[in-house]
Amino acid sequence: MNQDTLPSADYPVAMNAEHAAAAASPAHTTRILMCVPTHFGVEYVINPWMQGQTGNADVSHAQRQWDGLTAAIGRVAEVELVAPIAGLPDMVFTANAGMIWDDAFVPSRFRHAERQGEEAHFIAWFRERGFRIVELPEDLEFEGAGDALYDRAVSNRLWMGHGHRSDLGVAAELEKRLPVQVLPLRLSDERFYHLDTCFCPLEGGWLLYFPGAFDAAANALIEANVPAHKRIAIDESDAVHFACNAVNVGDTIILNRAGDSLKARLHAAGFRVLETPLDEFLKAGGSAKCLTLRLQEPPRP
Ligand code: ARG
Repeated sequence: MNQDTLPSADYPVAMNAEHAAAAASPAHTTRILMCVPTHFGVEYVINPWMQGQTGNADVSHAQRQWDGLTAAIGRVAEVELVAPIAGLPDMVFTANAGMIWDDAFVPSRFRHAERQGEEAHFIAWFRERGFRIVELPEDLEFEGAGDALYDRAVSNRLWMGHGHRSDLGVAAELEKRLPVQVLPLRLSDERFYHLDTCFCPLEGGWLLYFPGAFDAAANALIEANVPAHKRIAIDESDAVHFACNAVNVGDTIILNRAGDSLKARLHAAGFRVLETPLDEFLKAGGSAKCLTLRLQEPPRP
């Protein structure tokens, strides 16, 4: 982690010997983009979680929770930062900046006007760092790594959520521009409006997901492509705490909250789970994974 660019704080997640060893290992080169929540807030309603929350987010509490998440991620990855911009309260959700394939950056085309102002800032950040900007047709909506998630076991396989924020037509346009195979999944529950709110491919080919967020065809596609013993299907009580909105690096999974039985299933699959409270961000409809963007994609074997 680049200590120069991170705010200092007393991080709530205790560091044990295992964490310290992981942090010190040179093998951890995963880079993750985040955005300090200086200008975060719930200032409009574009998803069901934001309903009734306008003006309710506490920025200093959000900052402490974000510091906790950043500290947890910093143990297993290097955090990079994009500058926050006043008037763009959802810019903290860097997952929605766009999607990456090697040195190509496909910028999002946000569905809602409230977020469209983020596009130019994210494009500038990636352009300055030498990424090629690969544009989608202007008439298509696409919300980046909120809806486009690489399978972590099958190379160049990209799962894409559509139905709320991203258009199904993006699937073919991505396949034209990048060497990816896109598996589109229709989202059917408006609470789970981005794929990363209900679906999380994990290391080793495991899949953490909430089947209730998908239509029948999408569930059939998931079942046809991920073997039953690798599917960790969660119930609604975990899903509404954004348990699928998890950051997975190596054998570490970082998330807002998971029930004991889900944690036991993740442990049995070989993962350690770090819970870090993010309820200020849940008021805006986001959690751990939404607050991050992996900068080296697709996953390398
Ligand atoms: N308020 C934001 C929106 O509705 C939350 C975005 C959450 N991001 C995500 N990748 N799920 O656009």
